[in-house]
Amino acid sequence: MNIPSLAEAPHLVRGPRARIWVHSDLQLGHPAAAEAILSTAVDDLLSLGPPPDAVWCLGDAVCGSDLQQQEQLSRIVIAQLGRLGVPICYVMGNHEMDLMRVHGIPRYPLYEAARAEPLWHTTDTSEDVFFVRQFCGIPVVFLSDDAARDGSWWVNHVGVHGETAHRKGEALILPPLREAIARHPGPVLLAGHYALPGGQRPLTRLDALFPLPPNLRLHLHGHAHIGDLSINAANPWQRENPVEGHSLRQYNISALENVRSPGSHSAVLELETAGPVSLAIRCHLERRWLERFDLAPLTAARIR
Ligand SMILES: [Fe+2]
Repeated sequence: MNIPSLAEAPHLVRGPRARIWVHSDLQLGHPAAAEAILSTAVDDLLSLGPPPDAVWCLGDAVCGSDLQQQEQLSRIVIAQLGRLGVPICYVMGNHEMDLMRVHGIPRYPLYEAARAEPLWHTTDTSEDVFFVRQFCGIPVVFLSDDAARDGSWWVNHVGVHGETAHRKGEALILPPLREAIARHPGPVLLAGHYALPGGQRPLTRLDALFPLPPNLRLHLHGHAHIGDLSINAANPWQRENPVEGHSLRQYNISALENVRSPGSHSAVLELETAGPVSLAIRCHLERRWLERFDLAPLTAARIR
C-alpha cells in the first residue's frame, strides 16, 4: 500500500501553538447519564477560558446493542462537542462495534453522523485503520478500529472477527504507515483508543509499528479506564507508561465515564510547532487539575 507523505495531510490548526482537549470512553449506555457527564465536562472546560483549538475523541464514545439508543447517544455527543465550535478528530473504539458484535448489524451511528458533520474528522470509510491531520505543522496519526461496510469482518481489541483474510490486508497497511512516519522530517504524534505495548491494555496489532521511528514523540490513548481495578490492579492510576527501549512518551487519558472508576477524567495537550509541550489531566467532577506532565525534550540549555 502506498501511503502519501504525512506533510500532505490537512492542517486543522495552522498557528504556532494549540490547546487540544483529548478524551475517550464516555461509554455510558443510558443517554441521560451520558449527556450529564459530557455536558459537565464541556461546561468545566469552557469555565477555564476560551475553547480549545481542537478536540480529539479517542473512542468508546457510544456503546450498547440498541440501534435507537446508539443513535440518541450519537446526537448527544455531536450536540455537546458542537458547543465548542472547533474541529473534532474522532476514532472508533471497541464499543462502537457493539451493534456488530451483538447483533451482526454493520451500523456505527456516531461514525456515520461524524462523516456528515463539517467540523468532524475521521477515517474516510469504516474500513480504514487510520487518518492524519496536522496541528501546528505536526502530523498526528489517528488509529481507529475498523469494520467492513458489508459486515463481513470487523476488528476490535480481541482481533479480527469474520472474514479473517482482512488480517492480510491489515499487514499491508501498518508497516507502510511506519515507513511514512519514519520518512517525515519532523516530529509525529499518535492518538488512538488503545495503548502501544508497554501501556495499559495494549493492542497487539500495533506491534506492526515497531520498532517505532525515533521521530514518533507521543502516543495518547484510552480503553484502560484509569483507576479500574478489574482491568488494571497493578498500577491503576499510572498515567505515564513508557514503551521499553523507545523515547516516545505514552499516556492513558481515560476515562470520561464515572461508573467503572471514580471521577470524570480527560486531558489538555499543549502543542507548539517544535512538538508537544505539556499534558494536563483534569477531573471534570471535582473541577481540578490532577497531574501535569512536561513533554518538552531536554535541551542543553534545559539540562544546565
Ligand atoms: Fe475500549
